[in-house]
Amino acid sequence: MTIGVFDSGLGGLSVLHCAQKMLPNESFIYYADEKHVPYGEKTPEEIRLLVNDIFNFMLHKDVDAIIIACNTVTSVLTTVYRKRFPVPIIGMEPAVKKAIDIYGAEKKKILVVATPVTIKGKKLHNLMERVDSRKKVDLAELPQLVRFAEKGIFSSAQVGEYLRQALQSYDLPSYGTVVLGCTHFNYFKNEFQKLFQSAPHFVDGNEGTVRQMMRVLSLSTEAGGNGITEYYFSGKPVGGSDLKLINSCMIQLDQVFDIN
Ligand code: DGL
Repeated sequence: MTIGVFDSGLGGLSVLHCAQKMLPNESFIYYADEKHVPYGEKTPEEIRLLVNDIFNFMLHKDVDAIIIACNTVTSVLTTVYRKRFPVPIIGMEPAVKKAIDIYGAEKKKILVVATPVTIKGKKLHNLMERVDSRKKVDLAELPQLVRFAEKGIFSSAQVGEYLRQALQSYDLPSYGTVVLGCTHFNYFKNEFQKLFQSAPHFVDGNEGTVRQMMRVLSLSTEAGGNGITEYYFSGKPVGGSDLKLINSCMIQLDQVFDIN
């Protein structure tokens, strides 16, 4: 089979990275909409138009399923919209339920970080109403992290300073868990750690999303394609320095993979 994975940019590589580990023989097509990133500050209508082109691209490539490796896109697409397409489409949302299931009994609170579109979106608020009856979850928008990730800046004084400023109104020691509700934020676990006195737990939706795709397609971990991943930036095959950027993202993801 061939699985299409897309994001506004390089954040979705964290989902791809996880999928490649879980399904080492599978074939993937990764699409980053580098021409239009970031999505997290656009209107839902603008995002839906851009995503339409990406779905059509994926269908031309004959993919068997599409993973939306982007919380922002998932938050603006309805299930009805997704059902219009002839292949399964698997979305992802901030892993608030998982965080509450695992760490909800702890004294400390849970901080969900994501893009402005996701944080303001109805979908997340509906989810919180369903699972956060004890009001343990707070939300924070961190749009600038997307821009740092796109430049391949994962660890720097600038990133640390941005996080400190953006989160200055939050009582950070009162949080024990950080939900990475934007795929671009997976790169910054080290920088988040520096901010907290004691290291928080990190929760993301990567593995859950890949498992959901495997369930939908009845795939086992031995499932096989040709084990090759093709990369596209807004429809164009990726080469040269862009490929180097993708490689440095994958190296960073390897480094932070076990930080939970
Ligand atoms: N990676 C995306 C997400 O998970 C959005 C980043 C952006 O384009 O703003 O929400």
